[in-house]
Amino acid sequence: MKRTGFKFLALLLCAVLLIGGGVLASGAGAVDPNAATDTQGAEITRISVVVNGDTENSRGVSWATKARTDSIVLVSENADMSGAKAFTEGDVVLFLGYYMHKVVVSGLEAGKTYYYTVGDKSTRCTVCSFTTNPGRGEPVSFLVYADVQASNAENFEKGAKVVKAVYDLYPDIDFTTSMGDYVNDCTNEEWDYYFDKFSFIDRNTTNAPVAGNHDGNLRWNWFDSMFNLGAAEGSDTITGVYYSFDYGDAHFAVLNTNDMYPMSQQQQNWLQNDMNASGAKWKILMLHRSIYSAGKHTNKPDSSIMRNVLVPLIDELGIDLVIGGHEHCYVRTYPVTGDGVMPETSYVTEMYHGEETTFALDPQGAIHVMPSTAGTKRYAINENTMPYIVNASAKIESTRDQGGVAAHVEIDGDYLVFKAYLVDDETYTAALYDQFAVKKTSDGGANENWENLPTDFDSNNKTNIFNLIRQVLWVLWHYISQVLPGALFK
Ligand SMILES: [Fe+2]
Repeated sequence: MKRTGFKFLALLLCAVLLIGGGVLASGAGAVDPNAATDTQGAEITRISVVVNGDTENSRGVSWATKARTDSIVLVSENADMSGAKAFTEGDVVLFLGYYMHKVVVSGLEAGKTYYYTVGDKSTRCTVCSFTTNPGRGEPVSFLVYADVQASNAENFEKGAKVVKAVYDLYPDIDFTTSMGDYVNDCTNEEWDYYFDKFSFIDRNTTNAPVAGNHDGNLRWNWFDSMFNLGAAEGSDTITGVYYSFDYGDAHFAVLNTNDMYPMSQQQQNWLQNDMNASGAKWKILMLHRSIYSAGKHTNKPDSSIMRNVLVPLIDELGIDLVIGGHEHCYVRTYPVTGDGVMPETSYVTEMYHGEETTFALDPQGAIHVMPSTAGTKRYAINENTMPYIVNASAKIESTRDQGGVAAHVEIDGDYLVFKAYLVDDETYTAALYDQFAVKKTSDGGANENWENLPTDFDSNNKTNIFNLIRQVLWVLWHYISQVLPGALFK
């Protein structure tokens, strides 16, 4: 692909930052699954299984080792690993002192549970499992949390307990997702804490992670190195990863809101192409910086600029649900179009899975939800939140003195049910905090009358350069206004 001088320079700088980095060939060969030993936390760390390509038949598996070893994933349909198949296609990249192993597991069957171990021929982790997408027409459910953003083992542990309290209510989820800011300062130590404390879920279900601004925004290639995601074709992964996937009757687009401020033109074009091309009934957008937010960042330039770009796109693309993070408080809107315009919405009450449930019926516009934080940093509501955001919100509240939050989403045919849980700081018991439901009787589907937009950097050069200048100015302003005073007057 033809590259501009700018992109070449960016990639060169990225390469320089990755001191000592390099791609190494992974090894292959016959492996005895019975040789598996529990080395989690010792030789093999940061194990995760994430969406990568078609969720019915493939997964991206990754892990870290301190020593250079072969990369072998064994996958079996049986818990005793009998009949296991070895996967070795992938890379090993030395990233800041850790060998990051990435292997794509493919050729799986839809709706099936698989057992796996990772490692080399002699040292392997304990057997864990994941389940593939059952496909169109099947119900799916997933767990949502946001902004653990911890710095030490104790606070990662507390965040993990919040997520576990809700996971225990729904142990059969299809996948999990966090709206980003996994870590605070993006250090090896913090990522090690994260993968250790959240291994109970990350190693036993599929993850669909979202890049936050604390996950390596200004420290290049961190997020992409931590997970084995299938990035959108032609996209940069310097500040994060954007990608999409299907699960059941829903199509999910995951944005990288670190990709310049607000987003590069090619990411906007990719989103349009991606959503227009999807024939899924439900369309869901996940991103770190929330569009409808009410915390300390809500009026900052990056959030405001991004809001102006995304709101018309969300309307145009017929997105049903937008899930975000970044603000560490809870916001859930009514169905909205434009900037806070609430179309008339009718509601219907039906019995759903044994519970009387009220559904917004075929709403126009999207519902936005920001599920506070599963972590311990909980922010107050910004009193200067724009009135249209407050007016559009069915619930807007700080959970500062209440507890951490994690949520469960179920999509079953015409029905989508979202339940957020507040988890007590002392007892770690989960109590229902907020819920909404949507009944959608139309089939959704692809938009066949759209113009396929270019997603390569060159075609969007002018806008990207403009965005880059805006980003540089924003970063400078951030340092002048926030970092410098602290350094000078501490
Ligand atoms: Fe953030």
